[in-house]
Amino acid sequence: MELSRRRLLQGIAGAGAAGAGLALAGCAPSAAAASDIVDFHGPHQAGIATPVQDRLAFTAFDVASTARREDLVAMLTTWTAAAEAMTRGAPVPGATPSDALPPADTGEADGLPAGRLTITVGFGPGLFTAADGTDRFGLASRRPAAFAPLPALPGELLDDARSGGDIAVQACSDDPTVAFHAVRNLTRLGRGTVVARWAELGFGKTSSTGSAGGTPRNLMGFKDGTRNIQGTDDAALGQHVWVADGDGAGWLGGGSYLVARRIRMFIEPWDRDRLSDQEAVFGRFKASGAPLTGKDEFDTPDFTAVDASGPVIADHAHVRLAAAENNGGLRILRRGYSYTDGIDARTGTLDAGLFFLAYMRDPAQFVTLQRKLGSGDALNEYIRHVGSGLYACPPGTAGPDDWWGRTLFL
Ligand code: HEM
Repeated sequence: MELSRRRLLQGIAGAGAAGAGLALAGCAPSAAAASDIVDFHGPHQAGIATPVQDRLAFTAFDVASTARREDLVAMLTTWTAAAEAMTRGAPVPGATPSDALPPADTGEADGLPAGRLTITVGFGPGLFTAADGTDRFGLASRRPAAFAPLPALPGELLDDARSGGDIAVQACSDDPTVAFHAVRNLTRLGRGTVVARWAELGFGKTSSTGSAGGTPRNLMGFKDGTRNIQGTDDAALGQHVWVADGDGAGWLGGGSYLVARRIRMFIEPWDRDRLSDQEAVFGRFKASGAPLTGKDEFDTPDFTAVDASGPVIADHAHVRLAAAENNGGLRILRRGYSYTDGIDARTGTLDAGLFFLAYMRDPAQFVTLQRKLGSGDALNEYIRHVGSGLYACPPGTAGPDDWWGRTLFL
């Protein structure tokens, strides 16, 4: 039996404590239900090293011009409690005092299991220092030295309406309604304090952080995530993903930086490109995912291999430019999703691509890679970065009395 919101709602709304006790006793999580729930609390926020779920709902918010520091603290406390409940498959907590008021939970996920829901929050640079230089919330002195808006980078033509934000929420679940429900309810609970700035829905994971289910494919049809950091690789996570206590901002220790990039793919020309060129662009075979110098997906690429026409993995191939071997050991944890927002009315072409999400210990890791990729990658003929966000994700919460951002605000 799965622990679902409907059962919890029935239990809580039942006739008094006896009814609630009965209903809850009747739906103790079975092994199947338990595996459907990702622990909310822990040293790191869930949704980073967690095995990637199938669906994404992402929203970036601006803080309302009237909001004060204490409003932010109150909202983050409310958000944390709501997020913790939703990740258990429960509705947003709170009674609905009267049918003359809106219900405590919007209800569309009622009856659905949690689907491994994780909700991950991050703070944008503007929360610390506004664009006009003001320190609205007394946080400027707490801004890590490494944390500033991303510089202009090659390969981008950014839409301001799909970039930035003072706070970002990444909700991931195997069920799209559950992921949407999570950001919808946080948006609703944040009313008056934050205003949604931009959002994206992702419909297919494009990176794996674990071996279960095999490597997924992106919209270009290639396996994506083969050489990604695995969520179980504590050494790599510690070296490349988690901010360490000594990195310069104590409050962010155990947290991570999130880079979000809306990367439009020019799908129609890509679909007309011949297979051998598609494979040369990435430096990998399309069907197997193997490097062009190997046979199996997980063979290590040989960047020194040459044949009669030159390097087997071309100088401008995506994996050559991005690989740790060719970047002084630099790595990031990719956790992106495919997206589509219908047809681009200006051109009649598909508005679709990769919603690139990557976590790292220092934003410089992304800047270094994108400077190289944005200027040299053979893939650039078929993609353009059109949206961008950078967020500092605080560490995880320790227990029921803790809340997102406590280490920053207190
Ligand atoms: C639409 C844009 C992109 C597509 C379709 C794409 C696709 C791929 C594919 C198919 C692979 C090979 C399989 C793998 O190891 O995961 C790969 C590897 C990689 N990509 Fe991308 N990627 C894109 C953008 C980016 C960006 C913007 C970055 C970072 C700035 C990036 C960083 C990497 C890294 C670090 C690797 C691993 C390379 C290696 O170690 O061999 N990618 N990507």
